[in-house]
Amino acid sequence: MQYSEKVMDYFMNPRNMGEIENAAGVGTVGNAKCGDIMKIYLDIDDDGIVQDAKFKTFGCGAAVATSSIATELVRGKTIQEAMKVTNSAVTEALDGLPAVKVHCSLLAEEAIHAALWDYSQKKGIAIEGLQEPSDDDHSHDHHHDIDEDDE
Ligand code: FES
Repeated sequence: MQYSEKVMDYFMNPRNMGEIENAAGVGTVGNAKCGDIMKIYLDIDDDGIVQDAKFKTFGCGAAVATSSIATELVRGKTIQEAMKVTNSAVTEALDGLPAVKVHCSLLAEEAIHAALWDYSQKKGIAIEGLQEPSDDDHSHDHHHDIDEDDE
């Protein structure tokens, strides 16, 4: 398995690791298969701009790297821009991930969406294109991903 230099860098020197107290939105997601857990905290101001983002990840190196770069990608963005920080955006920003590690970047996308969902619930607003995260669907998706990867 070959990791890009960027993945190694973000794994060895993770940016924005930690937590935000009283965050506007917190999202926790897990992958049932590998057991990795990712938590993303967002601070969102009254104009709907992500002022700060932090993460805590108990998981593989790729999960640490993707969650770290995801927090950098959403910082300073509007909510709609943050919605576009998808797993492919994260993977691209890291100069690619090995195929068996793509599900790790999916976790980052899900964690951002879960944090935005949390924010929308606390605020009582709707975010265009955002649906309630469902744990069942997540674990199902991941099983599917990993089953394919394992072959
Ligand atoms: Fe589980 Fe990477 S192996 S998130």
